[in-house]
Amino acid sequence: MTGSVDLAAQQLAASTALAARFYSDTSLITVEREHIFARNWQLIAGISQLSGAGDHVVADIADVPILIVRGNDDRLRGFINVCKHRAGPIATCDGRAAKALRCRYHGWTYGLDGALKAATEMQDTSDFDIHSIHLAPIAVDTWRGLVFAALDPQMPLAELFAGTEKHLGNRDFSHYEFERKVSYPVPCNWKVYADNYLEGYHVPHVHPELNKLLDYRNYVTETDRWHSLQYSPMESAGNFYGDGIALYFYLWPNLMLNILPDRLQTNRIIPIAVDRCRVDFDFYYPPDATAEAIKLRAQDQRFSDDVQAEDADICERVQRALTCGRYQPGRLNPKRENALFHFQEQLRSAYREAGVS
Ligand code: FES
Ligand SMILES: [Fe+2]
Repeated sequence: MTGSVDLAAQQLAASTALAARFYSDTSLITVEREHIFARNWQLIAGISQLSGAGDHVVADIADVPILIVRGNDDRLRGFINVCKHRAGPIATCDGRAAKALRCRYHGWTYGLDGALKAATEMQDTSDFDIHSIHLAPIAVDTWRGLVFAALDPQMPLAELFAGTEKHLGNRDFSHYEFERKVSYPVPCNWKVYADNYLEGYHVPHVHPELNKLLDYRNYVTETDRWHSLQYSPMESAGNFYGDGIALYFYLWPNLMLNILPDRLQTNRIIPIAVDRCRVDFDFYYPPDATAEAIKLRAQDQRFSDDVQAEDADICERVQRALTCGRYQPGRLNPKRENALFHFQEQLRSAYREAGVS
C-alpha cells in the first residue's frame, strides 16, 4: 500500500485502523513535533498552581522548554525558558512568589514580564542595551481553571473546547486544588496510548474492576470538531465515586480530561521516542480536608493506578505487535471505535498537510 492510499480520508462504517508504519517510523517524530505538538494548545497547569505574583511552572512543548509565570500585574505570561545570553535555563522547576527570573547559568535577571533587568558584569560591553532584550513570549490562555500554552497556535483556545459546554454547562475547575502528579513511562508510541483511551470497547476485557463501575451498555461515545467524549452513568450504587456521570474528554492532540463527581484528572501523553511515551496524570479536587475526603482521594488514586497498569500492559503488547511486520490494519467497530476513528482521521489530515507520503 502506498502512502497516499493509507492517508486517504475514510468513512466510519468502512474504516480500517491507521497503518502500522505510523507507529514505528522514526521520521514521523519530527513531523509530529512540528506539525502537531508545536501548533496546538498544551495543558500546562491548574490555575491554583499559578495563583500569586511570581508563581511559575516549567514544561516542555514539542521539546521546547517553556515557562509560565504570573506577573505583578496579575497577568499570566508564557516564555521560552531559554536565556537570551547563552541559552541557560531561566527556571528549572516550578516555584512560588519569585521576585524576578534569574538565569541559572550566569545570573542575568529578567522581570516577571520577561524584560531583562540586569546583566551581571556586562558594563564594559559596547552596543549592549539591556532594554532591547526580552524573553521570547509564547501564547497562554485559560479554560475553566486550566492553563494552556502554545508555540504556534493555529486557533484560539476556546475553539478547541467548542461543544464541550453541552455536557459541562458552566462547570468550572478554578477552585479545584492540584493534589499530585504521577508520571508513567509506557513502552509504546504515543498514538497507541491515545487509541486505547479513545475506545471503551476494551473495558470489559482489560478492566474488569472498572467495568463493574461503568454501565457498558449505556456507554456513549460522541465526537465533535476537536474533541471526543465518552460517558457512562455509574452503575453500582455505593461505589466510591458516588452517583453521577463519568465524562472522558479527549482533546486534540494529546489531552484527556477525566471528570467525575468532585474530581478532575488530567492525562497528557508526551512522546519520548517512536516506541516510548510518558503519560502525566494530574489529580485535582475541590478543597475538602475531611478524613472522608482524604480517604476517597487515596482510593481514587489507587484505583487509577490499577487501571493505568492494565492499559500500559495492553499498550506495550500492541506496540510490539504493530511493529512485528505481520499486521495489516483491521476493520474498526463504528459503534465502539468512532472516537478512535475521529482521532485517526485528524492524524491522517495532519500528515497530509505536513506532506507525509
Ligand atoms: S546563559 Fe543566561 S546568563 Fe548566561
Ligand atoms: Fe483502558
